[in-house]
Amino acid sequence: MDSRISARALTAALGGWRTSEPAYEALADSIRLLCLDNRLAPRTALPAERELAAALHVSRSTVAAAYRSLRDTSHISSTRGSGSVTLPLGRRDPGSASFEGAIDLQQASPPSWPGLAGVIGDVAGRAAALVGRTGYDVLGRLELRAAIAERYSARGILTDPGEILVTTGAQAAIHLLASVLLGRGDRVLIETPTYPHAADSLRGAGARLVGLPVTTSDGWDVDRAQQALARTLPVAAYLMPDFQNPTGRSMTGHERDAILDAAERAGTVLVLDETTADLDIDRGRVAPGFGGAEHGSIVRIGSFGKSVWGGLRVGWIRAGADLVRRLVAARSSHDLGTPEFEQAVAAELLPRFGEILAQRSHLLGEGRDAAVGALRAVLPEWTVPSPHGGVSLWIELDAPLSSALVMDARSRGLLLSAGPRFSVDGGHDRHLRLPFTAPVDELERAVGILADSWRRVRTGAPVAVTEQLEALV
Ligand SMILES: Cc1ncc(COP(=O)(O)O)c(C=O)c1O
Repeated sequence: MDSRISARALTAALGGWRTSEPAYEALADSIRLLCLDNRLAPRTALPAERELAAALHVSRSTVAAAYRSLRDTSHISSTRGSGSVTLPLGRRDPGSASFEGAIDLQQASPPSWPGLAGVIGDVAGRAAALVGRTGYDVLGRLELRAAIAERYSARGILTDPGEILVTTGAQAAIHLLASVLLGRGDRVLIETPTYPHAADSLRGAGARLVGLPVTTSDGWDVDRAQQALARTLPVAAYLMPDFQNPTGRSMTGHERDAILDAAERAGTVLVLDETTADLDIDRGRVAPGFGGAEHGSIVRIGSFGKSVWGGLRVGWIRAGADLVRRLVAARSSHDLGTPEFEQAVAAELLPRFGEILAQRSHLLGEGRDAAVGALRAVLPEWTVPSPHGGVSLWIELDAPLSSALVMDARSRGLLLSAGPRFSVDGGHDRHLRLPFTAPVDELERAVGILADSWRRVRTGAPVAVTEQLEALV
């Protein structure tokens, strides 16, 4: 069934949209960005012009002109009597990943580990043994689960292979957990900003999200976490304690202890997404807390996606054996297992993890230093953190114009997601996520484009995005 967005919800999603003149084009651009970011799904019915005009406190002709502009660029279609509906993005639209010649920093995905092709070749040489199996593996190969369990045990989190479920990546793990742990209307505590696909997945399972602020300067708002846990008794908390995506922050021992304590009192399951936890650049030590004695209320998610390659689609869940059994039982309605070949590759990689992570650390360190250095040189008015690990910079702009900046940069061939994409409850238009996973020369070019775009956006120059997009495609 197609969805619809109310005038109120669209107004909240648009935030401070009026960043340039003419107003109708600024409004159209902001709606375009919501479509490009997937915050407005294709086939979503938009509010009637009159309703949106009232909610935004603009004239109806402004909304009508914005909708006309969106029709001209094929972002929406309108039918007399049934209103306006967003359209799927076309291949030639710069919103699609294949926008030729563009620098695409919408995803923070490091290149594959250089030894991966060799490992894939070795495993392919043994393919005859793999294809002799039934191939439907909803739990995961024992040797792979044992190797993953062994890594936890080495961290001091004693783990049995029966407490590991192998999935097709961390995203599938989040989705499966959401489908089993959550019912419609259940509350889930989640960092804001957060990893947006997790928020989408939790919302999709019917959860009501309760935002927990985390900042690059002060980390997790522990008071807020304690209050939210005690007052709203969330069923689960989805958190990234190490190299949080997008801020790059890691929880201190105090933050871990306080959140764990409050979660236990509230009966909240802590779902710790550790997809980025191994991406240490210069912290150089094992994270404190949440380790040692393991609690039944903690579920962990891991993945090879960032540490080896996003295309390897192997992740896992570490949970109590009972929950693992429930997850296995629920899984078959989503998918029938993790591919044998990818699991065999993953099992070969685990013994080499020390070497793999050293290479990642070096690569990410180069990217981070290049991006931080370039940004601080050309945009000194921005607050640019230098996180100890992870995949991205969470930059604070000196004005709430992230969406306008992203639209302008997009028209110059630089694709980024604006701050609000990472927000749980609106806002963050003062922030920009810049992944530092791309090659150094690309990052430096990206910063050059950002500096140009910022100058234009900051001075309120009209962002004639439509024309510029047409010039590029
Ligand atoms: C925090 C976090 N969790 C999960 C994922 C998804 O990982 P996977 O590629 O293993 O599905 C990502 C990827 O960006 C991520 O950053």
